[in-house]
Amino acid sequence: MLANLNDVLVPAKRGRYAVGLFNSVNLELARAIIQAAERLRAPVILGTAEVLLPFGPLEELSWFLVPMAKRASVPVVVHFDHGMSMQLCENALRLGFTSIMYDASWLPYDENVRDTREMAAMAHGFGATIEAELGHIGSSENSAEGSAQTDLCEECFTDPVQARDFVRSTGVDALAVAVGTVHGHYRAAPRLDFSRIASIAQAVEVPLVLHGGSGLSDVDFARSIELGISKVNIFTDINCAAASACDRALRSGKTALTDLIPLEVEAVESSVAEKIRLFGSEGKAGRY
Ligand code: 13P
Repeated sequence: MLANLNDVLVPAKRGRYAVGLFNSVNLELARAIIQAAERLRAPVILGTAEVLLPFGPLEELSWFLVPMAKRASVPVVVHFDHGMSMQLCENALRLGFTSIMYDASWLPYDENVRDTREMAAMAHGFGATIEAELGHIGSSENSAEGSAQTDLCEECFTDPVQARDFVRSTGVDALAVAVGTVHGHYRAAPRLDFSRIASIAQAVEVPLVLHGGSGLSDVDFARSIELGISKVNIFTDINCAAASACDRALRSGKTALTDLIPLEVEAVESSVAEKIRLFGSEGKAGRY
């Protein structure tokens, strides 16, 4: 069933578990993500991001993401991740996405507040939800998604006091926080600022979002969720799981695309299922 962020994240925050956002650029990824969620009876957030649109155009994706979410037997949010342009966020809402992340984190604070407030009013007018970013979450060099700023920037970490003002001034439903993660592969083991997660969670009432979830340890997930993270974003891990499955198949002598597709779906489904279990959202679909 089609859901928005509030439908799945408010119970997650209350129950101290997290719901995974998994980005998809094609039908196989979308199918694998929904299959894993249905198998584990978990709510899930199915998305795409502005930087991924060259691999799967927004309108084409909406033709199957929205109907697949409606038909699913578990709550599925259809989310536009890291929308940097207001026009693209509006397009996503018109195409039936139930949630957007408007990312103006690269702008000066006042402009981030001003533009995010405007996007929040629009999203809510569509009955959709909105996530925004404060501070700035960077990307490793080889990330397929993410944002302008590369790599970890400690000066860009989210300030808890500013976070409280940002959420009150904009009316966003969820807040993405910069606490030591980056998008893409980590060159060195990430060191999360757990006390900052705890302080931000104390300061704001809305659910908190951890981007750059691929490559974090089980302990990192458990601790950040315990301290107040309610949504974790994943793409690199499933993107690479799909490619590795194809690589193994080609090396073993398979030559046809139709040999690769089932293996790609199976690999992504198992990667998504592993994350759902780690995030504690298994079995939580029935609460809606
Ligand atoms: P990874 O690709 O590092 O998992 O990050 C995903 C993400 O944060 C999407 O917004």
